[in-house]
Amino acid sequence: MTLQQIALVQESWNRVLALSDAAAQLFYARLFALDPSLAPMFHGDMREQGRKLVAMIGVAVQGLARIETLAPVIEALGRRHAGYGVRDHHYATVAEALLWTLEQALGKAFTAETKEAWTVAYGLLATTMRGAAQARAA
Ligand code: HEM
Repeated sequence: MTLQQIALVQESWNRVLALSDAAAQLFYARLFALDPSLAPMFHGDMREQGRKLVAMIGVAVQGLARIETLAPVIEALGRRHAGYGVRDHHYATVAEALLWTLEQALGKAFTAETKEAWTVAYGLLATTMRGAAQARAA
């Protein structure tokens, strides 16, 4: 990622944080509309789940400039996800729900550059998570 892209992701995430509970609810509603078969994979309280998701994305967003130092944490997250029943193709659905949610939350501030920066950032996370999940399965 370029420094400019990292700045765009960090600035836009700070805006989303102001409405993070609502954004998380929107995200899951969109996710389950895109793929209803995902809903039964989630067992706990969805508000709590949303807070965990927001916290984890926050850690990654803050660490983007030195993402390699976060690799062990992201890999472990990917291995746990394999255990939750998450498969490779689910990552694209989550990407779509996440980008849509960011657009709802940010409005005009979700420019083409910001969307591209988020696409790259999510791609880094997803690739690392999936790679670790595959290594575990191998
Ligand atoms: C950047 C990508 C993702 C991030 C940052 C993320 C983050 C998290 C976090 C922090 C948790 C809490 C439990 C834990 O830490 O292990 C969690 C649980 C979970 N995530 Fe994700 N996740 C991502 C992608 C996905 C994808 C692609 C799916 C596929 C549908 C998914 C489905 C789940 C499920 C099913 C749980 C467990 C729910 C339960 O046990 O009730 N996540 N996720």
